[in-house]
Amino acid sequence: MPPSAKQDIEALRMEIERHNHLYYVTNQPELSDAEYDTLFQKLQSLEARHPELITPDSPTQRVGTAPSESFASIEHSIPMLSFGNAFDEGELRDFDKRIRSLLDTSDVVYVAEPKLDGLAVELVYRDGLLISGSTRGDGRVGEDVTANLRTIRSIPLRLRDANGIVPPTIEIRGEVFIEKQAFAALNRRREAEGAPTFANPRNLAAGTLRQLDTKVTASRSLSIYCYDVGLVEGLTIESQQQLLTLLPRLGVRVNPLFQICAGIEDVIGFYQRVRESRDSLPYEADGIVVKVDSFAARNTLGTVSRSPRWAIAGKFPASQGITKLRDIAISVGRTGALTPVAVLEPVRIHGVEISSATLHNEDEILRKDIRIGDSVVVERAGDVIPKVARSIPELRTGEERIFVMPTVCPVCGSEVVRTDAEVAHRCLNISCPARFAQSVLHFVSKSGLDAEGMGPQLIAQLIDGGIVKSLADVLTLDRATLLGLDRFGAKSADNLLAALETAKHTTLPRLLFALGIPGVGTHLADVLANRFGDLDALAQAQEDELSSIQEIGPLSAHGIVTFFSQPTNRRMIDDLRAAGLVLEPLPGGAHSAALSGLRFVFTGTLSSMTRSEAGERVTSLGGIVASSVSKSTNYVVLGENAGSKADKAREMDIPVLSESEFLEFLKSYE
Ligand code: IVH
Repeated sequence: MPPSAKQDIEALRMEIERHNHLYYVTNQPELSDAEYDTLFQKLQSLEARHPELITPDSPTQRVGTAPSESFASIEHSIPMLSFGNAFDEGELRDFDKRIRSLLDTSDVVYVAEPKLDGLAVELVYRDGLLISGSTRGDGRVGEDVTANLRTIRSIPLRLRDANGIVPPTIEIRGEVFIEKQAFAALNRRREAEGAPTFANPRNLAAGTLRQLDTKVTASRSLSIYCYDVGLVEGLTIESQQQLLTLLPRLGVRVNPLFQICAGIEDVIGFYQRVRESRDSLPYEADGIVVKVDSFAARNTLGTVSRSPRWAIAGKFPASQGITKLRDIAISVGRTGALTPVAVLEPVRIHGVEISSATLHNEDEILRKDIRIGDSVVVERAGDVIPKVARSIPELRTGEERIFVMPTVCPVCGSEVVRTDAEVAHRCLNISCPARFAQSVLHFVSKSGLDAEGMGPQLIAQLIDGGIVKSLADVLTLDRATLLGLDRFGAKSADNLLAALETAKHTTLPRLLFALGIPGVGTHLADVLANRFGDLDALAQAQEDELSSIQEIGPLSAHGIVTFFSQPTNRRMIDDLRAAGLVLEPLPGGAHSAALSGLRFVFTGTLSSMTRSEAGERVTSLGGIVASSVSKSTNYVVLGENAGSKADKAREMDIPVLSESEFLEFLKSYE
């Protein structure tokens, strides 16, 4: 073995862990994803050549451990406790009184932190190396979920040396959780796949850590914030403040939101502040945690049953409510999808009155066994649409009815179809008035033609009155017609006409979005506009041409071709033009994203520029630079001494460009 391999590997590992830390812990990455991938792949290939040098703390070892049969138990060396609860400010004040009288002092410093809604874990580090991780379990014994915890990028596999302070043993405790956005994205994906969705972020975090395939855990973007320690050897920590400073130095992630409180008034201020801003926090917090800062004072206070006397959870009012499900209504969307909507007896949650909630689809209703007339738990998280979390079968009277999806569209009476591939039921009548109304709303929406003042009520009136029968009719509305509408004055009419005039001058991506082509959202609309430049070129595109574009899947490609093949749709586009629709050139020049969606891989040494300069020219034209050749690669650019990537490209039939060909290629776009 060349003596340098070991050093190379170690240097790479340190470098990668440094970037992991910058990216996942401090949120200040220095490298682009592609640059990071290059480092990572370099390490992987070195390790593949020298498997004897692979160590468990290598960044490559985060994923891919073989699934285990079940989880072993791990006994915590110091029990993991839980909190007593305070449900309002008065109860927080009582807690403070108790503490002051037990400590016999009037000055107590507290540290207040958000109470994260996830799963508590303990990470054991020996000589800086992560050797095991477990769930809290019953507080005394938890489950060994080391393999899953290793996949969480914000958990260091090795502690950073903070000026010589890596203790021989430190047990670090924290909360594994998922950010709201990642949670919502995952549930959307699962819904699209027809898989059951997770009821809340906490269930997801718990379910993900306690499942056997580490690859699944790795795919779910879990995070951690650490807030406590168990056994610590070789180091004295005297307070929570000191702990919260030490942990980041060791490379461990702590929640940046916390407050050192000089007394209970500060605590109450923090409680109110977090409660009011909880909807805008990136994670779910169900309260705050108040801890006596001094560890010596904690010892004096001690623990009763399983809760420490020195800490308390200040819980926020519930974001759930219980109410009656009066009925299940059906709403028909633009694509004809029928969505069941819960009609609820109004209930207040976080001060907002809720009288309807989404039920997603029939499968979900059946799976959750939700019946009309049931008492149900309604949940409101952040600014998302409220949802029915579950039914309470124990409260049934026998009067409840099982919901069945209608077989005909409740609006137009046409047959409703559900294809095997889909969870959704659809009304297939393209002229269904409900679908049409939604199409008009979509047409004038912010990302579409953006006609301010065209709200749902006005649209309903225009359609009911037979004034708007096609999308083009929206653009030809005139003053006299508008003035003839209910409660429509001269000022509103003029404003609306001005807005329509502006909306007529639109851009290709806006129009593509506005048309409501199946599968085409704002992103795909941009991609298509950049790639085809004008509507007629796109209308003539073939399915295989479309699906060869990175961002476009076969379903969308089919949807787009089908859309333009329908004579009614082509006529609609002609009518829009006749009604005065004009496509303006895109601001910033049409070529600024000329390479949008195209993936380039560079290999070997270029002579006229560096690889990163070449990469910048590609990305400035909207292209993507990847570090490895795969079937989604569009071009491989070969420099001097190109290695295996060149062979791979030829094997996979991916177009290969020499440096001069690449320069020519760019010239035609820049
Ligand atoms: S400190 C005495 N800090 O709350 C408990 N726990 O009810 C020492 N939790 O199982 C833990 N956020 O899952 C602590 N900032 C925070 C917390 C927190 C959430 C959870 C933790 C624990 C539960 C106890």
